[in-house]
Order: sequence, then C-alpha cells, then structure tokens
Amino acid sequence: MKLLLPVLLLANTAVAQGSARQPPNGPPVRHPGPPGGGQPGRPPSSTGHPSPPAPTDPSGPPAPPTGPGGDDFNPLEHLGANSPWFPGPNVFGIPRSAPEGCAVDQAVYISRHGSRYPDPGAYNGWLTLHDKLQNASFTARGPLAFLPDWEPVLDEPDQQLAQLSPGGYEELYTYGVELRTRYPGWYKYGSPFRVFSNDYQRTVDSARLFARGYLGPNATTLGTVHPILASDPSVIANSLATSDSCPTYNDRSGAGYADVWDSIYLPPIAERLNQLIDGDLELTPDNVSNFPYLCGFESQITRRRSPFCDVFTPEEILQYEYRQDLRYWYGTGPGSFNNASVMLPVIEGVVDLLKSGPETPVEGASSGPNITGPLTVAFTHDNQINQLVSSLGIFDEQPALTADSMNSSRIYVSSRNNPMRGTVTFERINCSGELYLRLLLNDAVYPVPSCRSGPGSSCPLDQYNDEVLAGKWEKAGTFESFCDLEEGSVTTSPDGGVTFFTDLTLPAIRSVQP
Ligand SMILES: *[C@@H]1O[C@H](CO)[C@@H](O)[C@H](O)[C@H]1NC(C)=O
Ligand SMILES: *[C@@H]1O[C@H](CO)[C@@H](O)[C@H](O)[C@H]1NC(C)=O
Ligand SMILES: *[C@@H]1O[C@H](CO)[C@@H](O)[C@H](O)[C@H]1NC(C)=O
Ligand SMILES: *[C@@H]1O[C@H](CO)[C@@H](O)[C@H](O)[C@H]1NC(C)=O
Ligand SMILES: *[C@@H]1O[C@H](CO)[C@@H](O)[C@H](O)[C@H]1NC(C)=O
Ligand SMILES: *[C@@H]1O[C@H](CO)[C@@H](O)[C@H](O)[C@H]1NC(C)=O
Ligand SMILES: *[C@@H]1O[C@H](CO)[C@@H](O)[C@H](O)[C@H]1NC(C)=O
Repeated sequence: MKLLLPVLLLANTAVAQGSARQPPNGPPVRHPGPPGGGQPGRPPSSTGHPSPPAPTDPSGPPAPPTGPGGDDFNPLEHLGANSPWFPGPNVFGIPRSAPEGCAVDQAVYISRHGSRYPDPGAYNGWLTLHDKLQNASFTARGPLAFLPDWEPVLDEPDQQLAQLSPGGYEELYTYGVELRTRYPGWYKYGSPFRVFSNDYQRTVDSARLFARGYLGPNATTLGTVHPILASDPSVIANSLATSDSCPTYNDRSGAGYADVWDSIYLPPIAERLNQLIDGDLELTPDNVSNFPYLCGFESQITRRRSPFCDVFTPEEILQYEYRQDLRYWYGTGPGSFNNASVMLPVIEGVVDLLKSGPETPVEGASSGPNITGPLTVAFTHDNQINQLVSSLGIFDEQPALTADSMNSSRIYVSSRNNPMRGTVTFERINCSGELYLRLLLNDAVYPVPSCRSGPGSSCPLDQYNDEVLAGKWEKAGTFESFCDLEEGSVTTSPDGGVTFFTDLTLPAIRSVQP
C-alpha cells in the first residue's frame, strides 16, 4: 500500500510495523524500551517511498554530476535510498589518494546495510499492483509491454522480507575485500577483528558479510560482530541509532514538500504512460510513483536489470531522485530541525577516537584486540546515515531545497548520501605529525566549506572538533535538551560522544560470530 499511496503514507507514520527489533527510523521511541521497541512508522529504510538499490559495477568510472540524458545514464544511480551501492561521483574533483607527503593512519567507516528485499509494507504494495494488473484486461506498448506479464520477484517472501538480498551479499563481501586491500598493513594476517552494528537483523548480517570479505575463510573464528541495541537504557544517545532514545524525534518524511513535488512531477508521467496502454487499466500518479523503486529493488535482487528501469525517461528519473532528496532533507536531514542532530554523539565519538588514535584501549575486549586499531567499521540504516551526513558540516552552505522546483546543481543528493550500503568515511590524515580529518561519501571526498585549509581540502582535526563540531552542538544544544530528556540521562562521555567503540561492557552490546 504504501508504495502506491505515498502521500497518505507520509501523513500517517503511525502504521504499525513489524515485530522484532525495528530499525531505527521511525518516530521517537519514548524510552528505551524493550528490545523490540520500535519504531513506529515506516519500514526502516526508508521512507515512505520505497527505496531500493540496484546492482552496479563498482569499478566504473566516476559518474559526472547528475546530468540528464546521455547514453551512459544509469537510472540505478539516481534512485535515492533505493539505489544499490555505487561509488559516489567525485563532485568536488578531489583525488581520493592521500595528499602528497601525508598518510592515512586511521579511518572510521559507517555504512548503511547492504541491498535488501522489500519490507512487508512495500511488498504488499507490489502484490496489490500485481493483483490489479492481473484483474485488468489490457495491452501495453513500448517500455510498458512487459506489464501484463509482470510477476513480483520474491520466491520465499516469508523468509526474505526485510532481509539482505543477493545484491547485498555481493556489496558487503566486496566492501570487506576492498577495505582489506585499501589500507595495506593495517590488518595483521590471522589476527582477531571486530565490527559494530545496530542490533537489527540486516545490519548484523551486513557486518557479518563484511567481516567475511575482510577476513577471508577464517572469519567465523577471527571476527566478532558487536550489535548494539539502540533502545536499551544503557546506550541513551550512545548507539548507532540514537533516534531510538530521543522522544522528540519525529520523521515526517518531508511532508509538505515531497507531496507538493509529487503533485508537480508525477501527473505528466502518468499521462504519458497511459498513452501506451489499451484496455481497462488507467495508471494514476500514485500508481507510477513506485516504478523506479521496483527498478532498483528488482535489479539488485535478481542482478538483472528490471524492465521498470526503462519506464521513466532519464529526466523523469531525476525528478524521482529529487523527490527522495526532499523526503530526506526535510524528514531527517538539514531541513528537519534537530532530527539530524541526533547523530552528533556518533560524530563526536568518532572524532574522540581519531584524536586518541589507533592504540586507544577497548574495555571488555574479551574476544578481540584490546585496542581499537586503525580501522573501525559500523553498520546502521538509511536515516541514520542521512542524519550523519547532514550534521557533518559538508552541506552547511547549501540553500534549502524547494518543493516546487529542482536545483540540478545541488550538492545534497540522497542517491549519493544513503543508497544501499551508503558509507560515510572519516579518515585521519597525518602530514609530518599534523593531523587532519577528511570526509568521504561513498568514496568521494566532500570538503567542509568552513574548514578546508588542510592538504587535499581536509580540515585540521582539532579545528574540526573545536569549531565545526562545537558549532553544531552550540546550535543544537545537548542531546537531552533537544530530545527533551532529563539532564544527565545520556550514557555518552562528558563531551557527548558515543563510547561503544571503546567500551564493550555496556549491557546493550552483544557478540555474534560472522
Ligand atoms: C492506482 O492508484 C489508485 C489510487 O490512486 C488505486 O485505487 C488503484 O488500485 C491503483 N491501481 C494500480 C494498478 O495499482
Ligand atoms: C481481483 O479480482 C479478484 C476476483 O475477482 C478480487 O477478489 C480481487 O479483490 C481483485 N483485486 C483487486 C486488487 O482488485
Ligand atoms: C585458518 O584456520 C586454520 C585452522 O585453524 C589454520 O590452519 C589457518 O592457518 C588459518 N588461516 C588463517 C588465514 O588464519
Ligand atoms: C523533528 O521534526 C519535527 C517536525 O517535523 C519537530 O516537531 C521535532 O521537534 C523535531 N525533532 C527534533 C529532535 O528536532
Ligand atoms: C593488551 O594486550 C597485550 C597483549 O595482547 C598486552 O601486552 C597489553 O598489556 C594489553 N593491554 C591492556 C590495556 O590490557
Ligand atoms: C542551487 O545549488 C547550488 C549549489 O548548492 C547553489 O549554489 C545555488 O544557489 C542553488 N540555486 C538555488 C536557486 O537555490
Ligand atoms: C605522524 O607521522 C609521523 C611520521 O611522518 C610520525 O612520526 C608521527 O608519530 C605520526 N603522528 C601520529 C599522531 O600518529
């Protein structure tokens, strides 16, 4: 349903969701509830709109900044959170290699889970569409010719819904191999290694598959995944889904903006497509709004390009992409008051870790190294990644997105921020003893406009902490203040940073083998 009725869905975030541990996203979970506590609202990933990802060729050349048309236009790279992973375009033209005379000596990677099957709500929408198509008597031409014979691609929905898909398996394994080889010498052959995740099935599984790619055949014995249960009282503001401990968190999914844009861009598409149909089927704007979602999901699930990818023109796909941007910008991004600030504790904790260095001791490390080591990797969800990128400072000079027109020069593009397996990288760069911070989104460098004096447009690490991040805190207030919690209720360090990277004794943290 939600797929078919995006606007209604947006307005109604209180639909009950599944069971079990919910991904963070939804509205505020009052108190760190029992495990299970959840999120109201929408399915984790995303948005009212379904978001999918698709298969991609990781080795492809960097894509040029969004430009419509062109033979090499790939719709799978413009589906917002529904895009399968792809390397981010090098928007600023800054090389990813370490700047001359410098070395990356520590890095923290925080990623969304990999490509997955749809959540139950989205899948019900597929079934409804299928039903309606089956009931109608029609023929279709051109890119819609497949429609009368279309079948949903899940073969075991009971077991597959909401879980990682084969496209996700590939993204994660490849990711592990990539990081193992990206930083030669960081991993000592045959030694133990830990990975963090939010405590939700697909994020835990993402960490497990990453570890297998990173560690190879002995991953099950060498690796340990540490899921953190974000709704547990021991981790208030101290998890990978801090919105779960923030009662004032309320993701309205861009209501008032995304729906306005829907009413502008969708009707002409529905009208164009209806001209390709003969019979008793008439597609409404709602009906066509999720065709790109199906393009993304079907392509990564089957690893064959879905016929839905050819239904929208490139220009129409870019309009769909912008719709996702409005959903995230105003739902949990720069235009959402302090809903993006809930991830400030994570940024603070990462900066603390980079300042204390790779030899930082880890408490309670019974099954792994007793220091953090140079590489830290963690898995969470689309909204958490969006909150994170929105609070880093990289979008500070972006004008607010408008509901009635699309700015094609914008830098904030959800496809490049939180696609499936979307990744934020914090690299510590050492240039003859001077330490700098460099931020990357899906491997593309994004400078902080107010702090880019370092080599390769990086920011001196202390300046990032003392000016950029301190400025964010000053504007937002403490986690308790913007979440309306009693002062002192967070379990972060005194500076507001998460501690789970260095304290495994918190009751919310468990251990799982890859
Ligand atoms: C199209 O959307 C309308 C609501 O706008 C809904 O009633 C109808 O069932 C949908 N049809 C298909 C084929 O999904
Ligand atoms: C399709 O037709 C069947 C049988 O006539 C009916 O039970 C079902 O409700 C119809 N589905 C939709 C979505 O219209
Ligand atoms: C993997 O484990 C086997 C059996 O314990 C051991 O012989 C082998 O050296 C290990 N390989 C690595 C890469 O650690
Ligand atoms: C989140 O946004 C809603 C409005 O959409 C607002 O009422 C709420 O206060 C925001 N929460 C925070 C923590 O800023
Ligand atoms: C960490 O482990 C090493 C050996 O594995 C040991 O020498 C060192 O004392 C330990 N450090 C702490 C803080 O426990
Ligand atoms: C479009 O985006 C660019 C890049 O952020 C910005 O410089 C420009 O002011 C924006 N234009 C409008 C009309 O918002
Ligand atoms: C930075 O690198 C230099 C060598 O160029 C090394 O001597 C120094 O210890 C490093 N600094 C830190 C904080 O790691």
